[in-house]
Amino acid sequence: MSTMRNNISHRLLYVVLFISLLLVVYFTSTTAFYLPPAPTTRGVGKCIDNERHALLDFKASIDRDPEGLLSTWRTHEEATNDCCEWFGVTCSNQTGHITGLYLSFGNLQVENLDWLSRMTKLEELRMNDVFMGKADNWVNSSSSSSIFDLDLGNNNLNSSLYNWLFPLTSNIKLESLVLGGNKLDMIPKYFGNLCSLKHFSFSSNTMPISFPNFLKNLSGCTLFNLTYLDLYNSQFTGSLSNDIQNFSSLNFLQLSNNRLNGTISEKVWQLPKLQALDVSSNSLQGGISKNIRNSKIWFIDVSNNSLQEVDSEAYMSKVAIIDMSSNNIYGTIPNISSTVIWLNLSKNRLYGGLSFLCGHVVNPDLYYLDLSNNSLTGKIPDCLWHFKELQILNLGYNKLFGKIPSSVHFLKNLQKLYLNNNNFSGQLPLSLGSCTKLILIDLGANGFSGSVPFWIGEKLSSLYALSLTSNNFSRTIPSQICQLANLQLLDLSKNNLHGTIPPCLGLCGLPLSKYCPGDKELQLPPILGENNGDDDKENIWFYIGGAIGFAIGF
Ligand SMILES: *[C@@H]1O[C@H](CO)[C@@H](O)[C@H](O)[C@H]1NC(C)=O
Ligand SMILES: *[C@@H]1O[C@H](CO)[C@@H](O)[C@H](O)[C@H]1NC(C)=O
Ligand SMILES: *[C@@H]1O[C@H](CO)[C@@H](O)[C@H](O)[C@H]1NC(C)=O
Ligand SMILES: *[C@@H]1O[C@H](CO)[C@@H](O)[C@H](O)[C@H]1NC(C)=O
Ligand SMILES: *[C@@H]1O[C@H](CO)[C@@H](O)[C@H](O)[C@H]1NC(C)=O
Ligand SMILES: *[C@@H]1O[C@H](CO)[C@@H](O)[C@H](O)[C@H]1NC(C)=O
Ligand SMILES: *[C@@H]1O[C@H](CO)[C@@H](O)[C@H](O)[C@H]1NC(C)=O
Ligand SMILES: *[C@@H]1O[C@H](CO)[C@@H](O)[C@H](O)[C@H]1NC(C)=O
Ligand SMILES: *[C@@H]1O[C@H](CO)[C@@H](O)[C@H](O)[C@H]1NC(C)=O
Ligand SMILES: *[C@@H]1O[C@H](CO)[C@@H](O)[C@H](O)[C@H]1NC(C)=O
Ligand SMILES: *[C@@H]1O[C@H](CO)[C@@H](O)[C@H](O)[C@H]1NC(C)=O
Ligand SMILES: *[C@@H]1O[C@H](CO)[C@@H](O)[C@H](O)[C@H]1NC(C)=O
Repeated sequence: MSTMRNNISHRLLYVVLFISLLLVVYFTSTTAFYLPPAPTTRGVGKCIDNERHALLDFKASIDRDPEGLLSTWRTHEEATNDCCEWFGVTCSNQTGHITGLYLSFGNLQVENLDWLSRMTKLEELRMNDVFMGKADNWVNSSSSSSIFDLDLGNNNLNSSLYNWLFPLTSNIKLESLVLGGNKLDMIPKYFGNLCSLKHFSFSSNTMPISFPNFLKNLSGCTLFNLTYLDLYNSQFTGSLSNDIQNFSSLNFLQLSNNRLNGTISEKVWQLPKLQALDVSSNSLQGGISKNIRNSKIWFIDVSNNSLQEVDSEAYMSKVAIIDMSSNNIYGTIPNISSTVIWLNLSKNRLYGGLSFLCGHVVNPDLYYLDLSNNSLTGKIPDCLWHFKELQILNLGYNKLFGKIPSSVHFLKNLQKLYLNNNNFSGQLPLSLGSCTKLILIDLGANGFSGSVPFWIGEKLSSLYALSLTSNNFSRTIPSQICQLANLQLLDLSKNNLHGTIPPCLGLCGLPLSKYCPGDKELQLPPILGENNGDDDKENIWFYIGGAIGFAIGF
């Protein structure tokens, strides 16, 4: 949907470009993904009179066009007579027939669509976000038989639309159908006859639907070609049942933010072409079985469910991006494959140590590692030379202890380091000063001791936030702290510091009357890899898929 595209933030794009660069290397041998065709360039030559008149009738029926989007749609001068040159219109350069209409302008309040039935060779029709709630009866057998790309997203449509969409059943060409952002509560059984359908988006519909029954209704010849199924953020209920097994062409399965319960069917892992699976934010139970071993999945997001286990033989041989956070997973760190570059296991019940970090299987391109909020114990092993690309390391809220190992200097790209709320101790090693890209260090609530190192001020000049609160640091605050020009948050509270405070540190907070920056919500700059919002989730998912498909397509 276009809104999705618009909402993307720079940082996500960056994440995705970065991921896709890496993944293109890993996955070039896989088949190309299907992407809806981009608008082609406009054809040449005069358009068909009847079709031009149909467009003009449409324009005449529109009350308001405040942005003047249809201003090129006029016939007064010879130069603009050719409707193939109009904004949003594409013609066949051989026949002159209109083949594409891109009318996703927003708020045109399109009421009578009879004019559309005069487009006899239409192939692509994008009419999302136009509030066409009242439109009906435009699909007749001649205009519908040529359409292969139909986007009716964000139109407030309810299931009465299927009455006039029915002629599409006879359309053996339809490849892409977007019905997201409406109020649909079912799909009719005849959708199973759309033998060419590859891309089906039914996201953000607001009515409850049984997922197993939905699949049954798609289970005609549709299940052979369907590649991309996006049901994000709807109200699907029931289980991720075995019926999924028959959709043997599925590459992308997006079921995030629904109300699915029960266990994840074993058949999901056996889908021969599945590459990306997002079932996050449902109420799924059970676990990840060993059947994932042979799957081609490279993106898996099962976060925010109630999963309890990952089978000890569930080696995810192709996975690059894993989010299993916010579940109930009990056990040691799963057997991670050397293809992983993004790993989020935060908020589970994982125990045991971090020795896997020293295994040769760890990917040197790993750039996001979040093991926070578990019950991990032991020391950080002194073998961090694997992690030259690591940008975010979050080990906060565990039961780890010991010193920060001196091999930390290998983390040349580290931007954020969270070791807070553990039982670490000892002095901060000088080698941490080599991690010059650090912008955030949170070592709060541990047992660190010694002085606050002077080299933090001299070497870590990118720091925005430094928290050493609730430790055993002693002696004076080094004046070199004043060299940290970007510093916005400094928390040295609850230590044994004494002496004078460097004059550059404007003191704030109670009992003084001056507020600290941290008293209000501190706005850190956008950073690679950190995103939480539900909306952003789909963006990540979507853009990874899109970007890779694009790259592989070439
Ligand atoms: C027009 O048609 C010719 C012949 O089929 C084709 O080679 C050319 O790419 C087309 N041009 C455009 C702009 O589609
Ligand atoms: C559909 O539209 C075409 C073109 O206007 C017309 O020739 C045809 O009769 C219509 N068919 C139906 C079933 O209305
Ligand atoms: C569905 O939409 C149609 C067309 O806007 C409307 O007439 C009908 O009342 C709607 N039905 C429901 C149940 O909202
Ligand atoms: C499945 O199709 C039948 C018949 O068209 C319909 O009555 C039912 O509501 C559909 N179910 C779903 C979940 O779409
Ligand atoms: C898959 O779609 C193609 C057209 O894209 C069609 O020719 C083929 O028959 C479809 N496969 C099945 C099994 O229906
Ligand atoms: C899927 O395939 C299985 C085994 O081939 C079959 O028993 C089942 O009826 C199929 N399900 C659907 C929904 O087509
Ligand atoms: C799934 O939820 C439905 C209610 O929405 C409930 O009837 C059913 O028992 C649940 N199934 C499982 C396996 O929890
Ligand atoms: C987790 O899932 C629940 C629904 O199961 C949802 O309400 C909640 O917003 C989700 N939380 C996050 C952080 O996505
Ligand atoms: C992880 O799985 C791989 C592949 O099956 C296996 O070779 C390796 O021994 C496993 N490692 C552990 C620690 O279980
Ligand atoms: C981690 O756990 C702590 C203590 O249980 C809790 O205060 C904190 O909010 C949790 N963090 C996250 C991100 O959930
Ligand atoms: C933390 O480590 C210290 C030794 O450094 C030890 O005495 C203490 O018991 C540990 N605390 C916890 C809660 O494990
Ligand atoms: C990792 O998981 C935690 C818990 O679900 C979440 O708060 C955090 O945002 C996730 N990290 C990323 C980068 O998505």
